[in-house]
Amino acid sequence: MRDQAEKLREIINDIKSYSKESASLTAAPPAEARVITITSGKGGVGKTNFTVNLAIKLSQMGNRVIIIDADLGLSNVDVIMGKMSKYNLSDVLKNDKEILDILEEGPCGVRFVSGGSGVQDLVKLNKMQLVDLLMKLGKLDYEADIILIDTGAGLSDSVLSFVHASKEVILVTTPEPTSITDAYALIKTISNKDAGKNIKIVVNKVESEIEANHILEKLKAVSERFIGMKLISLGFIMNDSCVPKSVKIQQPFVLNYTKCEATKNITDIANILLDTKGAGMSGSSGLKMFINKLSNIFS
Ligand SMILES: Nc1ncnc2c1ncn2[C@@H]1O[C@H](COP(=O)(O)OP(=O)(O)OP(=O)(O)O)[C@@H](O)[C@H]1O
Ligand SMILES: [Mg+2]
Repeated sequence: MRDQAEKLREIINDIKSYSKESASLTAAPPAEARVITITSGKGGVGKTNFTVNLAIKLSQMGNRVIIIDADLGLSNVDVIMGKMSKYNLSDVLKNDKEILDILEEGPCGVRFVSGGSGVQDLVKLNKMQLVDLLMKLGKLDYEADIILIDTGAGLSDSVLSFVHASKEVILVTTPEPTSITDAYALIKTISNKDAGKNIKIVVNKVESEIEANHILEKLKAVSERFIGMKLISLGFIMNDSCVPKSVKIQQPFVLNYTKCEATKNITDIANILLDTKGAGMSGSSGLKMFINKLSNIFS
């Protein structure tokens, strides 16, 4: 136990001194990156499209954004970005690459890290490898204002690890009853471990604002009444044909269809997200806290 605590302190100190070093080189004030994990109960609800387009919008608003694609096997942030990545987290784990070496640059300065098979390897790491990886991940702190983690769907160990480690979670659902039921199941699982988790809800593929508000209010009321979780409404995205059209040509819709409904919705969500920084949260939502928690979960 003591050994582990000492290792953690070393990691945090290393990250702090790295941030100070970088700060003195660039003369910019050191800042802590805000870590937000995007997840869903059911698959295929639009997480990856949401993550990529939100990242671009946040970047257009002046934030430095990095996406970590933590969807093992089916990761496709790069496909939606229209930019294939050469490396993934495995290269950091096995080939001695630094995290900055595997950052790919997408549109509007948004950078991303592909998880690939590296995400699966996380649970098999020994302590030294884990410390090494977390130290490397910590270097992103000075590279980003916001880190968005796109996960797969559901209750698998790796998805839950990211969800539990992240103070802020965006849960995406669609109006389909199965999607809402699975979202509720995930909220329940999260609440068992962290009743104070900051969960923000986005309803995707809605036919109207009225439909979206109905679902948001219902999910909030049921979660508060039966499991004592206070959810935050982040907004909705219309079911919009510009989304699949953009996926086909591998260009994010916020760039390709600047006036479509979905782009307007993403802009509203980005504004609310920036406004609600810290709302309803106790403790840090930053990268150091995230790394600290991941370390506890995996070791
Ligand atoms: N607002 C929307 N309007 C219309 N279609 C949408 C919308 N959002 C997503 N889609 C479509 O839904 C499909 C799934 O989207 P996406 O890959 O982003 O989901 P996902 O939740 O990341 O899936 P997975 O769970 O497999 O990772 C895509 O074909 C996409 O075009
Ligand atoms: Mg996805």
